[in-house]
Amino acid sequence: MRFEPVESRPRHFNHFYPTTVAVVGVRDGERVNFMPVVWHGGLSFDPPLFGVGVSPKRYTHGLLTRATCFGVSFHPFEQARLIQQIGSVSGRDLDKAAALGLEVVSGRALPVPLLGGFYAALELEKTDELATGDHTLFVGRVRGVWEDESAFAGDAVSPAAASLLYFGRYRYGRPQAGVLDLGEGR
Ligand SMILES: Cc1cc2nc3c(=O)[nH]c(=O)nc-3n(C[C@H](O)[C@H](O)[C@H](O)COP(=O)(O)O)c2cc1C
Repeated sequence: MRFEPVESRPRHFNHFYPTTVAVVGVRDGERVNFMPVVWHGGLSFDPPLFGVGVSPKRYTHGLLTRATCFGVSFHPFEQARLIQQIGSVSGRDLDKAAALGLEVVSGRALPVPLLGGFYAALELEKTDELATGDHTLFVGRVRGVWEDESAFAGDAVSPAAASLLYFGRYRYGRPQAGVLDLGEGR
């Protein structure tokens, strides 16, 4: 076990991985743009709020700053290569949807683009943006939820059907079905 006192940047900062990959979709005039994020999470149940951490280096950052809404989608393991491709090029340089032949699903509650193939997706109305160090936390209020019922076992996400996990350094995985069900948590 190693201990590292930290002044600025630790050698590793991925101890909260593996985490699911979310794909942020936002309109870009007549076009749409997508980028994967692993820095994301639920922030509030009521109102339902979800946040994504986006570096100002990303083309998506400027789009989100100007946007009133954005989409977030969650994808199965089978889409890992596609998501890696989407996260390896910038909308600054090319129209990803056209160049990669992406399926785009239009939001129903809000005019947000969603990357096709998801097992769950959120339509978010932007409510806040907070500078958090070298990233910006964009917060959205959930105005619509898409879910493939087969990807949910009861109220929980089914590991067999869902969830692309990211381990860092472009390594992806899927959850093993070894779920420990602790009932009500008692
Ligand atoms: C799996 C994966 C996760 C990523 N997570 C984040 C993230 O949480 N925040 C971020 O700013 N960039 C993240 N990136 C990098 C952006 O997705 C990547 O730079 C992308 O090409 C930006 O596209 P854009 O310039 O069109 O916005 C991630 C990339 C990959 C492949």
